[in-house]
Amino acid sequence: MQILVTGGCGFIGANFIRRILGRHADWRVVNLDKLTYAGNPDNLSGLPQEQAERYTFVQGDIGDRELTEGLFEEHRIDAVVNFAAESHVDRSIHDPAPFFQTNVMGTQALLEAARAKKIERFVHISTDEVYGTLGPDGKFVETTPLAPNSPYSASKASSDLLCRAYFETYGFPVLVTRCSNNYGPYQFPEKLIPLMYLKASADEPLPVYGDGLNVRDWIYVDDHCKGVELALLKGKEGQVYNFGSDGEKNNLEVVTTILDILGKPHSLISFVKDRPGHDRRYAMGYGFAQRELGFEPEYEFASGIRATLDWYRANDEWMARVQDGSYRTFMDSWYKER
Ligand code: NAD
Ligand code: DAU
Repeated sequence: MQILVTGGCGFIGANFIRRILGRHADWRVVNLDKLTYAGNPDNLSGLPQEQAERYTFVQGDIGDRELTEGLFEEHRIDAVVNFAAESHVDRSIHDPAPFFQTNVMGTQALLEAARAKKIERFVHISTDEVYGTLGPDGKFVETTPLAPNSPYSASKASSDLLCRAYFETYGFPVLVTRCSNNYGPYQFPEKLIPLMYLKASADEPLPVYGDGLNVRDWIYVDDHCKGVELALLKGKEGQVYNFGSDGEKNNLEVVTTILDILGKPHSLISFVKDRPGHDRRYAMGYGFAQRELGFEPEYEFASGIRATLDWYRANDEWMARVQDGSYRTFMDSWYKER
């Protein structure tokens, strides 16, 4: 099989490509990535020679139809896995426009190019955030109504609905996966876990929004990638699949776990002004994916977080390189207001 993976230089896309190349010796992967601030070709460096020969990187925008149609033909693409997106909620609050440009317009252009070239399978990667927020009980399921609360989640919900429309209107073979919060190697240090690792390692205050009791349902990135692989191989067209890992933790629990593993004092925690529209709780019901796809997460948070922090410790150079000028500009202006 020849697949086009978009956004493969980001956190989850890179982990997915590594998994796929390692597990399917006869698959070829073309990675289309615009290389925004979050995209880093280094995330795929050091592939074993045999895998590198089956991997092609192309820098470009999913919204560029001439480019994507050309790639579909040149590489005889069978399937698309669309990870490319603007992905950070705080940035979407600061400046929503790029989120709608890539996540909505870009996805629509990619769907249209794939439809024109009769691509046989299109997996669109989405998020639990499209469902909005939960009270103290219950979990999101695939039929939970969409109720996004941030510009990021509104843009993701819009792209999910475009996928639905392409299936219903054109019979286009697209399916959507929705996952909870990922953590693991190669995550960009604007997201909670790598950011708190950086701050704690430098003995700097750890900025916790609001009361720190917002709950996220953490899943190790390779478990999410396994779900996407199963959806690609076995998923039903037009269907939505939720992935999670029963990993509910509030932010204070996550942050104190990181401090404890690193041997740093809890006094580094600094409560700061809350994120506007901050969803209180996410929890993913993934029984449908268990039954239909055979999906089972493998990692527990306790061991996954240790493995993740070990990876960051062993990859200090990677961490230093991704904190370039544009990273610092956004971080300085966002946290100055908190
Ligand atoms: P990321 O920000 O680390 O990576 C996004 C990648 O997309 C980057 O490499 C970037 O350069 C690329 N990109 C952005 N705009 C592009 C464009 N117009 N054309 C081509 N490439 C472009 O994001 P991530 O955390 O790896 O998330 C990947 C996907 O998974 C996103 O769709 C996100 O909504 C979804 N998701 C993320 C999580 C999570 O916890 N991180 C959970 C559920 C779903
Ligand atoms: O749920 C899936 C989503 O998870 C994905 O769709 C998004 O792409 C991904 O970024 C992530 O969104 P969150 O907003 O949940 O992740 P983030 O790491 O930004 O924040 C996690 C929690 O930590 C959230 O409650 C906000 C809080 N937080 C975050 C930062 C960056 C803090 O308290 N302080 C911080 O500095």
